Amino acid sequence: MALVLLFVFCWFIGLANATFNVTTLSFDEGYSPLFGHGNLVRSPDGHSVRLLLDVYTGSGFISSSMYRHGFFSAKIKLPSDYTAGIVVAFYTSNGDVFEKSHDELDIEFLGNIEGKPWRFQTNLYGNGSTNRGREERYSLWFDPSKEFHRYSILWTPNNIIFYVDEVPIREVVRNDKMGGDYPSKPMSLYATIWDASSWATNGGKHKVNYEYAPFTSEFKDLVLEGCPTDPNPIRTLSNSSTCTDTDAWLETRDYAVITPKSRSAMRRFRQHYMYYSYCYDTVRYPVTPPECVIDPNEKQRFQDSGRLRFGGSHRKQMRNARRKRRSRPTSNISTEQNDM
Ligand SMILES: *[C@@H]1O[C@H](CO)[C@@H](O)[C@H](O)[C@H]1NC(C)=O
Ligand SMILES: *[C@@H]1O[C@H](CO)[C@@H](O)[C@H](O)[C@H]1NC(C)=O
Ligand SMILES: *[C@@H]1O[C@H](CO)[C@@H](O)[C@H](O)[C@H]1NC(C)=O
Ligand SMILES: *[C@@H]1O[C@H](CO)[C@@H](O)[C@H](O)[C@H]1NC(C)=O
Repeated sequence: MALVLLFVFCWFIGLANATFNVTTLSFDEGYSPLFGHGNLVRSPDGHSVRLLLDVYTGSGFISSSMYRHGFFSAKIKLPSDYTAGIVVAFYTSNGDVFEKSHDELDIEFLGNIEGKPWRFQTNLYGNGSTNRGREERYSLWFDPSKEFHRYSILWTPNNIIFYVDEVPIREVVRNDKMGGDYPSKPMSLYATIWDASSWATNGGKHKVNYEYAPFTSEFKDLVLEGCPTDPNPIRTLSNSSTCTDTDAWLETRDYAVITPKSRSAMRRFRQHYMYYSYCYDTVRYPVTPPECVIDPNEKQRFQDSGRLRFGGSHRKQMRNARRKRRSRPTSNISTEQNDM
């Protein structure tokens, strides 16, 4: 087993020698503070930013524009040591503009008790599909609190790819049967750190311990490549042709192309590090969701694993943090998990 993991590790490192050809932005070029302003600390050169969580508040930032399709990426270093109950989220959403029909693409890092590694999940929602979570959960082949790694979300009209460094870890290919569940409206990029004591670690059993505060996450080498659009929903929706050139350009980028080599890296990652996939959760979804590509080997493992369902939402926290009065539906998933 150790040998196999060493091999997998080397495979990922090999792939990571290539880096995406992207243009990085300073904080002020692309982003604005979102909440917990005192806990958002820019570096003197303006090219990196720290988001802190202390007993008073978390913090977050948002892209200054909304984008209709794009590549959203940052190098991130997570808080170390005791991080139970903490969530660091890097995601796209338009929930502030389309309250009942929002779209969302998530990378959410879930803290853990001391000595246990960080885990994370990816998810997507389209047109308000909050009762149909599409979570996958994974561990990592490195300690994300020790150094920066690049995490990315690519969203095109045809597919969505989540990346860790240059390794694609999940691809969702658009499928007509998904209908509105495939994100289609302009979204902003969000990065947040917040207290998710109620669900993040072992279904809420382990809460944030503020003796270890402040918890610090760091973001640098920020990338936003895509089609900035008017956030006004009426104008944006009445003219969807304006982004076709950028969409075509996105398809030519290196991060939009999964080579045979990176496809095998994705397969290996999923074999070794994915420990939950909604596609195999037949209790939750007796009918397999239309975009799921069932891999017989994966299916075998997940059938045998007996893993429980889980869930949660950062929307509730965001609402509190920003003192919003609106209520937004949250997913109706059990918060049970016994995955570690
Ligand atoms: C990187 O991308 C830019 C466009 O953003 C392009 O002009 C340049 O040739 C690319 N460089 C490489 C090495 O592919
Ligand atoms: C999105 O949801 C609304 C109802 O909330 C529905 O009227 C509309 O047709 C849906 N759009 C798509 C593309 O499915
Ligand atoms: C939509 O965008 C295209 C390209 O920018 C423009 O030529 C056209 O006039 C726009 N249509 C409307 C209704 O705004
Ligand atoms: C949520 O789940 C509970 C328990 O499974 C169920 O009783 C309830 O009807 C569900 N609510 C919605 C809105 O689906």
